[in-house]
Amino acid sequence: MKFFIDTADVDAIRELHDLGMVDGVTTNPSLILKSGRDILEVTKEICSFVSGPVSAEVVATKAEEMIAEGRKLAAIAPNIAVKVPLTWDGLKTCKVLSGEGFMVNVTLCFSANQALLAAKAGATFISPFIGRLDDINLDGLDLIGDIRTIYDNYDFQTQILAASIRSANHVKDCAMIGADVVTAPPAVIKALASHVLTDKGLDQFLKDWAKTGQKIL
Ligand code: E4P
Repeated sequence: MKFFIDTADVDAIRELHDLGMVDGVTTNPSLILKSGRDILEVTKEICSFVSGPVSAEVVATKAEEMIAEGRKLAAIAPNIAVKVPLTWDGLKTCKVLSGEGFMVNVTLCFSANQALLAAKAGATFISPFIGRLDDINLDGLDLIGDIRTIYDNYDFQTQILAASIRSANHVKDCAMIGADVVTAPPAVIKALASHVLTDKGLDQFLKDWAKTGQKIL
């Protein structure tokens, strides 16, 4: 399973990239706001060291303008995935831009039928939002499972990019279900390494080692 990092914080992406944990990056207008950076500049900087797909989102709502924005974003670097919302205009934009050879990430997906439409429109990625479904007491992971079944039934090549990931358990559950990619904030990726028994075990080993009076270096 691929890891995309869900942030426009260049330092945070770099840190995980140096550890080999970054297969791609996703951004959205809220993350651009949080970064305090210009969308074109920050996206270009991310693409200067991340070779996998970097999603940059259009903000127009009508297809014609979305297509123009998408072409401008795609011109930043060859690894840009143009992110469009799951609306009819977004699907039209997806069809046009994927037909021109650009990667397209269809975002704000909350149902299996929406995911089916995105695949038929030629999406490279579909982004179902797990956390936001959980927030309203629906089951985001069920949606990932439903999309996996549908895409496998018909051999759709669109990759399932599980988004709105809030916890380490979300990552594990998405891997078990067979999502192709998870996009998670840096803190969630870091939390994957944590285990209370690892901390406890290391503490005991270090205490015992001190009692030996030995040194390795
Ligand atoms: C990524 O593509 C999405 O925009 C992001 O995962 C949304 O996450 P949130 O629901 O935590 O804002």
